[in-house]
Amino acid sequence: MPAVIPPSKVLVTGANGYIAIWVVRRLLEKGYSVRGIVRSESKAEHLRQLFNEYGGKHEVVVVEDITKEGTFDEAVKDIDAIEHTASPFHLLADDPNEFIEPAVKGTLGVLQSALKYGRVSLGLWYLHGRFIVSGGTFKWQDFVDAAHKAGVYPESALPKGVPGSGYAPGVTHLIDYDASKAARVLGMDKYISKEQCVKDCLEDFKERGW
Ligand SMILES: NC(=O)c1ccc[n+]([C@@H]2O[C@H](COP(=O)([O-])OP(=O)(O)OC[C@H]3O[C@@H](n4cnc5c(N)ncnc54)[C@H](OP(=O)(O)O)[C@@H]3O)[C@@H](O)[C@H]2O)c1
Repeated sequence: MPAVIPPSKVLVTGANGYIAIWVVRRLLEKGYSVRGIVRSESKAEHLRQLFNEYGGKHEVVVVEDITKEGTFDEAVKDIDAIEHTASPFHLLADDPNEFIEPAVKGTLGVLQSALKYGRVSLGLWYLHGRFIVSGGTFKWQDFVDAAHKAGVYPESALPKGVPGSGYAPGVTHLIDYDASKAARVLGMDKYISKEQCVKDCLEDFKERGW
């Protein structure tokens, strides 16, 4: 997988969100350029002020409706990687479609714009890299256990965590996801397991000498 390294430019959707604002901060701190997307000019202005010290390395654009076809076409130009976090995240909806529509159309929309209008390297990224759609209620221990099973690093190089404290069968989570559901909703059929995902990450870290 080609590494997206600083000073590459990263598009972050929902840039004013709880998670995204930290994503933007970390990217800027690491030397990436960031183009954030928000829904209104007042939110854009707030972010411009917040990250003022990064000058031209940080820009914010307004996309009012993420469900509209082609809405991300302009925003994906000259972008090396995309972190799509814009999605409703509250527990107050009466109609499930208040959640489903922006989540599904927003995700598909950003992927379609990237394929159509992303820079040349984005085309290569599609051929040699990957799109990652993630979601879940995994516990930290699940990833620790998967890292041990992966066999990439010796046991002694990895934290143990609290063995046995991971996902407990029979525990009902308020929100749950699974790959078959995502496949049905998004029409995507190639998923890798959590175990494979952790193994890939560790192999990538190792290649970089970490
Ligand atoms: N926080 C967690 O613990 C957690 C855990 C697992 C997964 N996630 C996922 O991570 C993502 C971000 O979560 P968060 O906690 O950062 O949520 P958040 O603070 O509510 O941020 C959500 C972002 O998405 C935007 N957004 C919401 N509805 C939208 C719509 N219909 N059209 C366009 N933009 C919309 C919001 O814009 P406005 O400010 O304009 O509304 C905001 O920028 C969500 O997909 C969430 O499901 C979060």
